[in-house]
Parts: sequence; C-alpha cells; structure tokens
Amino acid sequence: MEIMGIDIGGAGIKGALVDIEKGALATDRYRVPTPQPSKPKPVAKAVAEVVEHFDWNGPIGCTFPAIIKKGVAYSAANVDDEWIGTDAARIIQRYTGDPVLIINDADAAGIAEMHFGAGRGHSGVVIMLTLGTGIGSAVFVNGELLPNTELGHLELRGKDGEDRASDRIRTEKDWSWKKWAKRLNEYIQHVEFLFSPDLFIIGGGVSKKYQKYFPHLDLKTEIVPAQLRNEAGIVGAAMAAQSLI
Ligand code: BGC
Repeated sequence: MEIMGIDIGGAGIKGALVDIEKGALATDRYRVPTPQPSKPKPVAKAVAEVVEHFDWNGPIGCTFPAIIKKGVAYSAANVDDEWIGTDAARIIQRYTGDPVLIINDADAAGIAEMHFGAGRGHSGVVIMLTLGTGIGSAVFVNGELLPNTELGHLELRGKDGEDRASDRIRTEKDWSWKKWAKRLNEYIQHVEFLFSPDLFIIGGGVSKKYQKYFPHLDLKTEIVPAQLRNEAGIVGAAMAAQSLI
C-alpha cells in the first residue's frame, strides 16, 4: 500500500509516495524550499504544493521538527515560533484537503529505522539520534516508541546539547571531524549515562560519513549509522499515517 510521506525541515519540504510494506520510496522525492519565515500558512501551502505534485488523494504523514501531541506543536526549535500551540495537522489539512498526521521528525525516522533499517530485530533500549541543524532523538523500549524525548536540548556545560554537538555547529565552526567527534562523544556519553541503551543509531545527513567520526567515539554502547539515510523521515511519517486509515 502507498501513503504520502512528507518531511518538513527548516530548509526544505520533501515528499514522496511510500510503499509502507517495503519501507521504501515508491516515487522520486519532490522538494520545495521551506518558506522564510517558516510561518504556519506559507508552510502549509508549500506542503499542499508537494501533495499536488503527486496528484495524491489520501492520508498524509508529515514530520515536523518539534514536540507534537495529537497534531499540536508544543515547541519550534528550527521553525517559526508562530507554530507553538497551533494545531499543525489541522492547518496543513486545510490546504491539502486530505487527512494529515503530524509526528516529530526524529520519531518518524526512528520508526522507519526500527522496522526497516539499523534497528530491525533489536529489543531493549534503542536510541536514535539525528544529527543535522539540531539533534533529534527517538527512544524505543522493546520496539515501542517513547515519543517527543527532545534529547537534543539536554543541557551540557550550560548549553543545549544541539548547540554544542550538532552537525550545524561542526560546519559553522569549520571543525575537523576529530574535533567535532570529541564534542559529540561528550554529548552521547551523557545520553548513555542517563539511559544505558543497548544500541545507538545515528541518523541525519552526516550519518553517511560515519567512518570519519565513529572511530573517535569512545562509548560502552554499540553505535551504528542509520540505513535509510535521508529517506527515513518520509518513510516513518507515511508508516505512522496508517493510523488514519
Ligand atoms: C527539535 C526537535 C527535532 C530536532 C531535529 C530539535 O531542535 O527541538 O523537535 O526533532 O531538532 O530536527
């Protein structure tokens, strides 16, 4: 069965039809830039443009980089503050005309990785961390998601973890892989101490370059790169939207 999956990010809105039995994209991805400022109405319109590109009528799963409960956004770290307290699902639905399910971006990526990627078959505590503009987190206990964990905002040395160790910081500061890995290691060690996980999965664009920084990490826990790469959010959002059927 195919379902429309959409990944709303700070810079781009990407969508594709997803074969949810295979956990793979059934079409090419279509991307439009995220309107700036990224306020609710223009973003919802841009999502509708992606949906129209596919001529899609049916359920839509959408990731969003914020705390999401029953479609309502309770934070807005890398999108406009106007989203906070708004029913994001309803706003987007108004423009698409189709039922919309909204889910935190890292949670969506985690769901896809647990079913079809690096987390497949892993029980116990699995933590996926997505390294990008921010740090997203998805925590699973025996395959069950504990949603909205927001571990990117864990405070370390008086700062948000994501303001010390995200991939954005690495590129902004033009750090070597080794230097960044030191910061990242300190952050992941903190998460490791708090949760004693059985497996870490690292996602986000930088996960494909894992060979450059994994060797500099010093952890007790097994750590692996994500397998679905930048498709995980779209796939996971579409999987979550099955609940609308
Ligand atoms: C947001 C999270 C999001 C993560 C990755 C953080 O700044 O607070 O909700 O999952 O960035 O986009």
